[in-house]
Amino acid sequence: MTATTARNRMLGHVITAEQFDRDLLDVLFARATALAGVRDDRLAHRIMATLFYEPSTRTRLSFESAMLRLGGAVIGTEAARTFSSAIKGETLEDTVRMVSTYADLILLRHDEAGAAARAAEVASVPVVNAGDGPGEHPTQALLDLYTIERELGHVEGVRVAFCGDLRFGRTARSLALLLALYPGVRLAFVAPPVIQVGGDILSRLEARGVECRLAEQLTDVIDDVDVVYQTRVQKERFTDPLEYEQARTAIRIDGAIMRQLPATAIVMHPLPRVDEIAPEVDSDPRAAYFRQAANGVAIRMALLEMLLA
Ligand code: NCD
Repeated sequence: MTATTARNRMLGHVITAEQFDRDLLDVLFARATALAGVRDDRLAHRIMATLFYEPSTRTRLSFESAMLRLGGAVIGTEAARTFSSAIKGETLEDTVRMVSTYADLILLRHDEAGAAARAAEVASVPVVNAGDGPGEHPTQALLDLYTIERELGHVEGVRVAFCGDLRFGRTARSLALLLALYPGVRLAFVAPPVIQVGGDILSRLEARGVECRLAEQLTDVIDDVDVVYQTRVQKERFTDPLEYEQARTAIRIDGAIMRQLPATAIVMHPLPRVDEIAPEVDSDPRAAYFRQAANGVAIRMALLEMLLA
């Protein structure tokens, strides 16, 4: 499939990982590799608006960097909850309707699941979901999958252990859905019951024939993994501080865990990390999380090119 056919098949908005198929992913990854390091004007006169109702470092800055590297411009509000008219009571729908007339694309991060889909209903330009509460984070999943392919050389048959906050962590949810497109993938979800993955995701994975298992300790599955995908416990989404405390310290990757991890396996994390990966792990060549974050720029360049060029 060519880039143009792929573009025509895009839905115009990027809301969920479930929009993507293997052909589209192959084209996107090839474009990301081709665009890495490029600086030109192919998106000259195109404007991306960033509407962020929740904090972000990597997602917002890597999207902005991607846009600027392709000659586009960026407008936006970084703390939309307090510094946009939301504080005056404006609805998300009204804001999005207006911003649609100011920009060619809206990058939206919001604290409610389903917010990106709501925005897409009223937007007259593409909406990209940069994280909707505990819902999804499809562009993070794209860069995660791209990282797995680059680090391991393939995705088919890969064994991934998702660890940490699988209840509220949107990146793991989206990545699991993308991995389901590849035959032979086997997934383990490693978390205490209070933050274990939701039945909604498990049933979607099982419907696609993905082999899934649940565990409480990483050591239960560590011999049988190619990727450990660690995640932060999403403090901001807990209503019970006691539950958060129980969850926070449940799974930690340190030197002792690294000694048990197969030599060819990698450790990923969408970042930011708090204390779920000890700093001593950073110097291990299997620690792929900073390389993973760097891949975000190329993937987002490819995505912006597909949506805007
Ligand atoms: C993640 C997010 O915002 O969902 N960060 C990111 O986008 N790289 C993960 C997190 O906040 O823990």
